[in-house]
Amino acid sequence: MSNSLFRKKNISNILAEGTDDSHGGGGLKRVLTVKDLTFFGIAAILGAGSFSSLGGAVFNGGPGVVVLFMITAVACAFTAFCYSEFASRIPVAGSAYTYAYASFGELFAWIIGWALIMEYSIGNIYVAFSWSDYFTSFLSKCGMDIPAWLSTSYKEAQHAVQGGSLSGDQFEAWKNAPLIGGLKIIFDLPAIVINFLITYLVFRGIKESRNFSNVMVILKMVVVALVIVVGGYLVFHNGLTVNWTPPNDAGVKSFMPNGFSGVMAAVAGVFFAYIGFDAVSVLAEESKNPQRDLPRGMIYSLVICTVVYILLTLVLTGAVNYRNFEGVGDPLAFIFEKQNLNLGWMQLLVSVCAVVAMTSVLLVFQMGQPRIWMSMSRDGLLPKVFQKIHPKYQTPSFATLITGLVVGIPILFTDKTFVLDFTSIATLFAFVLVCGGILLIPQKVKEPGKFNLPYINGKLIFPLLVAGCIVVLATVTPKYFPNKIDFSEEQAIDNFATAIPLKNMDTAMIVQQVQQNLATTNKGNAVFNGLQDSIQVKKLPSEKLALINKFIANAGTEQSRTQKISTIIFWLLMAALAFITFLKNYSLIPLMGVSTCLYLLTGMTKANWLWFGGWLLIGLVFYFLYGYKKSKLAS
Ligand code: ALA
Repeated sequence: MSNSLFRKKNISNILAEGTDDSHGGGGLKRVLTVKDLTFFGIAAILGAGSFSSLGGAVFNGGPGVVVLFMITAVACAFTAFCYSEFASRIPVAGSAYTYAYASFGELFAWIIGWALIMEYSIGNIYVAFSWSDYFTSFLSKCGMDIPAWLSTSYKEAQHAVQGGSLSGDQFEAWKNAPLIGGLKIIFDLPAIVINFLITYLVFRGIKESRNFSNVMVILKMVVVALVIVVGGYLVFHNGLTVNWTPPNDAGVKSFMPNGFSGVMAAVAGVFFAYIGFDAVSVLAEESKNPQRDLPRGMIYSLVICTVVYILLTLVLTGAVNYRNFEGVGDPLAFIFEKQNLNLGWMQLLVSVCAVVAMTSVLLVFQMGQPRIWMSMSRDGLLPKVFQKIHPKYQTPSFATLITGLVVGIPILFTDKTFVLDFTSIATLFAFVLVCGGILLIPQKVKEPGKFNLPYINGKLIFPLLVAGCIVVLATVTPKYFPNKIDFSEEQAIDNFATAIPLKNMDTAMIVQQVQQNLATTNKGNAVFNGLQDSIQVKKLPSEKLALINKFIANAGTEQSRTQKISTIIFWLLMAALAFITFLKNYSLIPLMGVSTCLYLLTGMTKANWLWFGGWLLIGLVFYFLYGYKKSKLAS
């Protein structure tokens, strides 16, 4: 018996439980091969990220988003190696949660399990919304229109109207929604229906799901390949390659028109596109040879998707100027619209296949979540009912139904941006802990036929790498570090926003100029609303207006300040990690995983951090009220 928050499970016990019928482990069928696992990986990875959030990503960063895809791919590859090492040592269901139990102990295991709800269930809300976008637009191309109030989320409609929108689906939804007791009835019906169908399918069983999923993966790969080949051909044929170095606001032509900070602003969308390779690990108990096949499945699917993303980004930003992707939720179909590449049949084909692609993502995550809960329940951290296996279908039936509810209910009161950010921050956090976990578990003796993570001693290499990066940054961009600790600009803008000593400028002119600036950014509405009152009160001097414009162009001081603070923390953590590595001879691959994932976290906003912190806090309350006492390790 242990009261420690860091009580650990040892790996041999986890393995014994995983195959023990009384724990439900023996209840799952071992049917999956490496091909199935790779397909599952692609099924999970390639979806709303490429079919939907890629639009917002290229709008923020321009063609330079390719660089972010590469950085993210490297972060994910290091993480995949760490997942693979864990999966080859602990081939039971549960993913990062189980791994943390063996390395960091129970409290962190619970925190990861809690964060994974964001990845699996909340991530699926984003996919369900995107699925609905493509599905409704496909129906409308076929002449069947679903009323806007039945295909829009309440929050989105509310935001749009509060932001002054006077047209578009969201505005339509708000205007035409029926009222019940003064409440506007607006919800995304197709998103709810697809969630219901997916839950049913997963409830029915893995084999049926697997067959369905493989067909969908083949279909979406074919279509993505077609977009790349046809789009790529037209980019060259129509002489559109100039779009790869578009002019920015100052007229300077650049691959990264909004600079590297514009590229980093796309991090949530880009990272979301990669989420899923890790989902393969929750299928450990259903795969024939998990120790050999799980790592392969994960890495193969990651490599394939990375190549696809880089090519897709180049085709998209070649076909259409990056600025035109503002608010575009169906970028792959959009590039074939009349005003762009003008290929109607491609537009329709992409819409159909997007629906298919996203269905397969939904399926994989909806299968993953119950399996994680099943593991947590086996450990006593969740009630026993979560490990109940259906006698006929042999699936975790109760946990599957609860997943359906956890995805389905928030569809009624969240929106896409919120769930996208939330999913990305929580998943990155889980990845940091998985890579960190590998640093903490003892080296194993290499075993033939299993995945063995190569050990490269980081003692000197890692501190040298960190020092090298600092020197290069300070030399190549001398302003990099001074800028990170200079908050004077944000302070000036803050002072302006509160004090506003106004002179010399006509209010109408200011409003007009701010609006012009808003037209070139997707971040402006909220900022504008906040400033509008102040602007209308009096007149502004031009230097104040310049500050407003800068404020809007940078998506607000808050984001700029948060990025600065997180970057400072990042470098401090790197320095500390380099020091510990020097003392403890940590292995280089997991170190790189921790570093790259931490780096991606510096792109998150303050609101993301606050929401995520709140979520973790709720998780801790749950843990202390239930899991801490009921845990198997407590008795
Ligand atoms: N990577 C998955 C997608 O893009 C979550 O849909």
